[in-house]
Amino acid sequence: MTSLTLRRPDDWHVHLRDGAALAAVLPFTAAQFGRAIVMPNLSVPITTTALAEGYRSRIRAALPKGAHFEPLMTLYLTDSTTAQEIDRAKAAGFVHGVKLYPAGATTHSNAGVTDLGRLSGVFAAMESAGMPLLVHGESTAAGVDVFDREQVFLDQELAPLCTRFPGLKVVVEHITTAHAVDFVRGARAGIAGTITPQHLLHNRNALFTGGIRPHYYCLPILKRERDRQALLAAAISGNPRFFLGTDSAPHERGAKESACGCAGMFTAHAALELYAEAFESAAHLDRLEGFASHFGADFYALPRHADQVTLVKQNWTAPATYGFGAGRLVPYRAGENISWRLAKGAGP
Ligand code: DOR
Ligand code: ZN
Repeated sequence: MTSLTLRRPDDWHVHLRDGAALAAVLPFTAAQFGRAIVMPNLSVPITTTALAEGYRSRIRAALPKGAHFEPLMTLYLTDSTTAQEIDRAKAAGFVHGVKLYPAGATTHSNAGVTDLGRLSGVFAAMESAGMPLLVHGESTAAGVDVFDREQVFLDQELAPLCTRFPGLKVVVEHITTAHAVDFVRGARAGIAGTITPQHLLHNRNALFTGGIRPHYYCLPILKRERDRQALLAAAISGNPRFFLGTDSAPHERGAKESACGCAGMFTAHAALELYAEAFESAAHLDRLEGFASHFGADFYALPRHADQVTLVKQNWTAPATYGFGAGRLVPYRAGENISWRLAKGAGP
């Protein structure tokens, strides 16, 4: 196949940052996707509807002229989030999910949740409002191996939560293991999972090929080859519980190439192209449209887009860096070949 036209996709998990970083990365996401679920883990987390409204305005103001892109806002759940805040968020109309970071799990998660048991009123309000819970599914319990954190969280914390709130919509975000695939596939109705391009294309060997590779470090961390294969099988399966969420997460070069480098891979410059590579590798480009453009919209009860995008089979080389405020951003595949290209509306 040399070209592929599909309904315009959405990104159901992305980090757009703020200020100059926002201005640098937003054009890439807005060129490909009609909408995106925007993560709330700014240095001052987006914990209220009022903060989400301000952030939404800044994103809209930073959009390139002529872009048709809608940021779908999220709230950052803390130990002190109230049921009233959930009701406010629902009434506002522009908040589409509430993000659960276990405290300490990842970038800017220090204000996250320390005890799910104390938030029953909030989860009940979300359940009755139809407000999805978006989960960073990793245990932060001391002593849990970094490669086991997802499984431990799903089994010990998320499974009981899903039972206690049987109507709560839940997205297990950026799933990384065969265990998480089984969890989502076998769960009750109302539970879905997103999958990143890097977890479809790489296993954990990528972190250590010829030396330590900080630009392959993200959380949850890349896992084993058998996990990658299970994720790819889920993505191409046509099961609507699995859909696209890039987790594109830019950090300035120095913050990655450091003795204590930040987690996060920037993939927004080639997001759909990378998914196309993954689906092509499994001989199922025909399933990309459902995964990228249908299932997420259906889950979030939003209309599918009416317009289309076209991918062409064409080699190009990702640049070594992009501008990122006063610094530089090293994209995924920097200086390397990418074998698909968006025909229209490619990034800046
Ligand atoms: O790799 C990651 N980067 N995982 C996360 O959960 C957060 C993200 C970030 O904000 O950089
Ligand atoms: Zn993320």
